[in-house]
Amino acid sequence: MSSAFTPISFHSSSTDLAKTLDADLYAEDIKFAIICDTNTLASCLPKIAESKVVQQAELIGIEPGEASKSIEIAVQIWETLQEHQFQKSDVLLSLGGGVVCDLGGFVAATFKRGMRFRHIPTSYLAMVDASVGGKQGINLGGAKNQIGVIQPQEKTYICNQFLATLPQRDLVSGFAETIKHGLIAQPKLWYAATEKLDELMSTEWIKQSVEVKQAIVNIDPFEKGERKKLNFGHTIGHAIEAAHEGELLHGEAVAWGMVLEVFISHEKLGFPQQDFEILHQLIIENFSKPSIEIAKIEEYINHDKKNNQEGLINFTLLEKVGEAIIDQQLTKKEVTKYLKLYLAKYG
Ligand SMILES: NC(=O)c1ccc[n+]([C@@H]2O[C@H](COP(=O)([O-])OP(=O)(O)OC[C@H]3O[C@@H](n4cnc5c(N)ncnc54)[C@H](O)[C@@H]3O)[C@@H](O)[C@H]2O)c1
Repeated sequence: MSSAFTPISFHSSSTDLAKTLDADLYAEDIKFAIICDTNTLASCLPKIAESKVVQQAELIGIEPGEASKSIEIAVQIWETLQEHQFQKSDVLLSLGGGVVCDLGGFVAATFKRGMRFRHIPTSYLAMVDASVGGKQGINLGGAKNQIGVIQPQEKTYICNQFLATLPQRDLVSGFAETIKHGLIAQPKLWYAATEKLDELMSTEWIKQSVEVKQAIVNIDPFEKGERKKLNFGHTIGHAIEAAHEGELLHGEAVAWGMVLEVFISHEKLGFPQQDFEILHQLIIENFSKPSIEIAKIEEYINHDKKNNQEGLINFTLLEKVGEAIIDQQLTKKEVTKYLKLYLAKYG
């Protein structure tokens, strides 16, 4: 498998996207299904209603939110596809945020051992992250992304006009992943983020952000090495997210995870202090600061699936902006020491 073969097209208007969908897909003998949640049904589907593909499609609606990424909803969608006699050669489109794309991709990749599927991401996070890289999946109970496949979609269509209706909190949260892409591999993107965060909504910067992830995934689709760079900010970020039990959006936790992991990078690898201060300021200004309780973070970090058997915690750290170093092993004691040091200095 290689996602080098997953083309991504960028559209500055939804009219252009609708035309491209028809040019790419419309044929008399193909059936289409579109999965969307009630928000993207109301806000995004009308924007591409002129497309013949959309007009002909079977609409499958789900409730918004993480709870829809479940086996029960997957079964309902498989049953709908079966009832309407969808075949492997028919196409399922996911029109939505990361939840709809992950679920739609998983359902399609497994229906009749794999029907055709494409993503139309409508949240910022889905544009720069969830709809790039071929990971499709659902949750199991409370545990995220436990069941799934790495199976690239045939194509992803990105149109930033959809972002006009995305709630501001979801938009800013998504920016965290683009800030990450800048920090790990693309200094230009990082400087753009520090100059005017909202500019990250432009097609140009979305494209740059997507290219960082694509380039990494193309080298290492199955996360044996290079892809671990994308975990930067996520070891502590996931622990903060879990410790706050659903209060924080993913990107909000990752933003603070990046601050703490850059702090550790400064202490361990000499990441420049000045750049740490710039990141810290950017995150303080745009992402409200969650409480950082060391005991809770320790507890969740101990369960991180990236840890090795000796109980060392695996991090991706930064030597400088644009240079990520994978497989940095820290003892739990070291992690605690750095968290305490950060809190002593910055509260
Ligand atoms: N597959 C991957 O590689 C990958 C990577 C990162 C995240 N993810 C997954 O992505 C999910 C999070 O994605 P998300 O942040 O997009 O969440 P989401 O899909 O829940 O969308 C956030 C909210 O915004 C609404 N929304 C989306 N687009 C909209 C629009 N244009 N206008 C109005 N409302 C809109 C949704 O209905 C939802 O209420 C998680 O399940 C995560 O595990 C997957």
